[in-house]
Order: sequence, then structure tokens, then C-alpha cells
Amino acid sequence: MTDKNELAQIGVVGLAVMGSNLARNFARNGNTVAVYNRSPEKTHALIEAHGEEGNFVPSETIEDFVASLERPRKAIIMVKAGKATDAVIDQLAEAMDDGDIIIDGGNALFTDTIRREKDVAARGKHFVGAGISGGEEGALNGPAIMPGGPKESWETLGPILESIAANVDGTPCVTHIGADGAGHFVKMVHNGIEYADMQVIGEAYQLLRYGAGMEPAEIAEVFREWNSGDLDSYLIEITAEVLAQKDPETGAPLVDIIVDAAGQKGTGRWTAINGLELGVPITGIAESVFARALSSSTAQRSAAQEGQLPAGTIEALDVDKAEFIEDVRRALYAAKLIAYSQGFDEIKAGSEEFGWDVDPRDLATIWRGGCIIRAKFLDRIRAAYDNNADLPALILDPYFKGELEDLIDPWRRVVVAATQLGLPAPVFASSLSYYDSLRAEHLPAALIQGQRDFFGAHTFKRTDKPGTFHIEWSGDRSLTQTD
Ligand code: 6PG
Repeated sequence: MTDKNELAQIGVVGLAVMGSNLARNFARNGNTVAVYNRSPEKTHALIEAHGEEGNFVPSETIEDFVASLERPRKAIIMVKAGKATDAVIDQLAEAMDDGDIIIDGGNALFTDTIRREKDVAARGKHFVGAGISGGEEGALNGPAIMPGGPKESWETLGPILESIAANVDGTPCVTHIGADGAGHFVKMVHNGIEYADMQVIGEAYQLLRYGAGMEPAEIAEVFREWNSGDLDSYLIEITAEVLAQKDPETGAPLVDIIVDAAGQKGTGRWTAINGLELGVPITGIAESVFARALSSSTAQRSAAQEGQLPAGTIEALDVDKAEFIEDVRRALYAAKLIAYSQGFDEIKAGSEEFGWDVDPRDLATIWRGGCIIRAKFLDRIRAAYDNNADLPALILDPYFKGELEDLIDPWRRVVVAATQLGLPAPVFASSLSYYDSLRAEHLPAALIQGQRDFFGAHTFKRTDKPGTFHIEWSGDRSLTQTD
């Protein structure tokens, strides 16, 4: 139904798949939705195909679109992140009145969101950067939504966003995350975790396929089974679907037909860069980004293949297949746990750096549904932060420590097996090193401090007394205290 005279509670600008699905979701849930797209064909197509799903108010100019919104006006921008976003913000801010709310629902870089919030606020309007997860299907049927921006905007926006968000046990998968860029920051880390989750699933597949010699359809069954236990999650579920799929043209397993070069639009890379900037070891996420980059280094890979580089001694798998499958399941669970733990560390550090006061329990709550990393074990993560909001690391929660008791030996065995089989398992292996580093009594950092003092007089601390010290390396090697 469309009605040009009715005022809309919310508007959507940009009607590509994500935008039109979100508009349909609003309409289906009883909201009157204003819709606008730069080329009106998309607007017509949406109304023609789905106009009967609810109340839409289509416009062909941004001014008409703005005029069709009830006050305070609320408009969600769903255009490709980047310059297009700035252009639409500018148009909306121009046409809107003080107190109106502009929401960016794209995958914007959080520092852009901070900048935009300042600019829009200076023009008297509110700006909310909202991470929206769940892909096309989620946008239509219930995404997880991570809005940042001013708290007062949340008062107005909350109910309408709650009406379209996914819902788990009666709780909508949306909450105010924090000021200015907090929502997009958290969505960025969500995507980083998504990269790591996908990579560890990929490593498990690789080991079962080329280590245990299993076929994709058989591995699909294994993943199906895993999906009913601790690993129960959307990504495990779709992995079984992808592995079971045959290529419609050749009948071969689809996964054998798809070129093994992973793409990326950039959010995982941003998460890794930010982790480096904040000094948070998000090794699982960073390795996953590198793994995608390596997979796409086609020229180097073909130069290195065909026996160009020595493989060393490769051993065949020498364990019972069922036991190996169970070991791989546990290694996958352990590496996934590390990735989440590190992701929450990054969120904590970001929240402190930018003064957002992000509550990790909120994330564990709203990520349980709608988003790509939705998983059963987020309930456990929430319980962990409920027990202790200041956990030094998620893996130090008593429940997860208990899980790690069961996971650690299989995890070590799998990393050894991968090494002996000559199969890459970058996140399984590096997460284990991270884990061992964290629990190690001694790290070689003492030696590194000595080296730094040797060549650059960078000084060091002593284990036995306070102060800062230096050795006269090129002189008599005496000790001096510098402060
Ligand atoms: C989501 C997804 C979504 C998208 C990303 C990842 O939460 O719904 O993360 O935002 O799939 O763009 O894409 P890349 O793998 O291409 O970086």
C-alpha cells in the first residue's frame, strides 16, 4: 500500500538489496516507511514487487522524502560506505530540521562515523552510526543492530529498531552501544570475529578433507552434527549447506569448483589495523585477514606450487578417523574461543580509548540472534560477563577455563598433526601460541628488552627492584639507573 499523504515513522535512503529488505522489514512490522533511491527505478521496483507488504511512501526527490517523514525525522542511509554516504548525509542535513536523526546503516569505518557525528551535530541534527548484521536475509527478517550516536537519539529510535530486529527469548537484538562511533566500532569487531570464525571452520574442513581424506558431503554431515553441540552457530550451519552443495553444471562438489581465493571488503582488515593501533593482540582476526590475502596471492601461490618449495617430511595421518574428527572439533572450539576472547579485548580497549563505556554483556546478548556470528555459546559469554563484568580475559572465566581443560590436549594434537601433514592451520596454530604466551611464566620479552637497551639505550625494568635501568654496553657494562 502506498499513501502520499501519510507521514512515515522512518525513511530508508538507498534501495539496493539491503536497503529494500530493511524497508520491507519496517513496513511488515507495522511502520509506515518513506523510501528514496537516487535512481527512481529502484523505488518503483520495490513498490511494484512488495508494496502490498505494508505502508510505503515513495519519493523521487530527497526534499519530498524528508517532507514525508514525521518529526523528529528518522532516515536510515543504506548506500555503499564511503563518499556516497557523505553526499547523502549532506543532502539530508540540508533538508532536515534541528533534532532530526540521520542514521548510517552501512559498514562505515568508525572514525568516519566520529567525524560525521561531529559535523552533523554542528548542523543541529543527530547522527547515529548503526552497525547492521545479518546480510540480506537478516535485513528482511530480523538483523542484529548496533546503534551508536547520542543517547537521546536512542530514546526515539529504540522502539522502531526493536520492531525489526531479531529476537531471542523475547529480547530484541538491538541496544544502544555508546556515543558517536561506538556502534560501527563494535560492528567492525563483529566482522573481525566473523573472519576468524570462518577461517577456523575453513581450517577444520581442510584438515578433514586433505588430512583425513574425507569427501565434502561426508564433512557436511560432520558439521551438521557439530551444529547440535557447543559449536551450534549460523556459520557452522551454513558450512554444512555449502559443503553438501553440488555444482549444478558438473555435479562435482561446489567447493571444488569455487576458486580458493577469498575476497574481503575491508572490515576484517580494519579490525586488525585497529587491534595493532590499540596494542591488543587480536592474533586470530589478523591471521584470518592474512589467510584471505595469501589465498588471493595467485601469482605467488602458483610460483610456489608444483614442488617449487621443499615440503620436508610429510607424514600420513596415523590416528583413528573418529578420534581425529573429535580432536578437530575441539581444536576448532578452542581457536574460536580465543578469537572471541581477543575480539572482546579489542572492544574493551576501544571503549576505554574513545570513552564509550561499552558493556560486553550487551554484545553477548544482541549477537545471539540476527547477526552472522550468532552462536549458542554467546549465552555462555553473557553469563561469563554477568558473573564478572571486569574479567581480565574471556578465557579466564571459570566456565571457559573448564572447557579449555577438555580442549587443550586435542588442540595441541591437531596443531602437531597439521604440521606433520604439511597442512596450513594459521589460526589453530597461532591461537595456541597466543594461549601459551598468555599463560607462560617467562616470555622472551626480557631478552628483547636487553637487545633494545644494547642497540638503542631503550632501558629496561628489573624483576628485583623498581626503577628504570641501562647497561653501558659499549663501555664498562656497568648498570645505571635512569629514573
Ligand atoms: C554482516 C556481514 C556483512 C558482510 C561483510 C563482510 O554482519 O552481515 O559481516 O557486513 O558480509 O561485508 O564482507 P567481506 O567478507 O566481503 O569483508
